[in-house]
Amino acid sequence: MTEVRYYSRSGNTKAVAEAIAKAAGVTAVSVTDTGAAIKDKTDILFIGGALYAYGIDADLRSYIDTLSSDKVGKAVVFSTSWLSRHALDLIRKGLEEKGISVSEETLYFRGKPNETQLKEAEEFAKRFTL
Ligand SMILES: Cc1cc2nc3c(=O)[nH]c(=O)nc-3n(C[C@H](O)[C@H](O)[C@H](O)COP(=O)(O)O)c2cc1C
Repeated sequence: MTEVRYYSRSGNTKAVAEAIAKAAGVTAVSVTDTGAAIKDKTDILFIGGALYAYGIDADLRSYIDTLSSDKVGKAVVFSTSWLSRHALDLIRKGLEEKGISVSEETLYFRGKPNETQLKEAEEFAKRFTL
C-alpha cells in the first residue's frame, strides 16, 4: 500500500504530489484534509512540503507528529522550495524522530515544476512502487 501526503500553499508541491500519486495509482491528500490520517499499514509514504520563511509549515510539522512507525514502513520525502533543499532535512528529521525509516533518495524541484519535471516525479515514484 502506498500513500501520498503533502502540504502546499501555492500548488507547486501539490503538483509534484499529484504526479507521484498518478504513478502510484493513488490519490494525493493534503495534510490539512480531514482524511489525511494514515489508518492502515502503509509500505511507502511519500510526504512533501516546502519552506516558508526558512521553516516548514506548522500544519505539516504537526501532521508528521501524528505518524507512527507501526503504520509507515518507509517514508520518501519530496519538496519544492525556492532557495534551498532544507525542507527535505526538516521533514526527514521529524519523521526520524518518530522512528520512521526514511529513504536516502529524495525528490526536489526549485519552485513550480514543469512538465518534464512532473514526468521525472512519476518515474521517481515508480521506482518505489512497482
Ligand atoms: C511566504 C513565503 C515564504 C517563503 N520562504 C522560503 C524560504 O525561506 N526558503 C525557500 O527556499 N523558499 C521559500 N519560499 C518559496 C516556496 O518554498 C516555494 O515557492 C515553494 O515551491 C512553495 O510551494 P507550494 O506552492 O507547494 O506552497 C517561500 C514562499 C512563500 C510564499
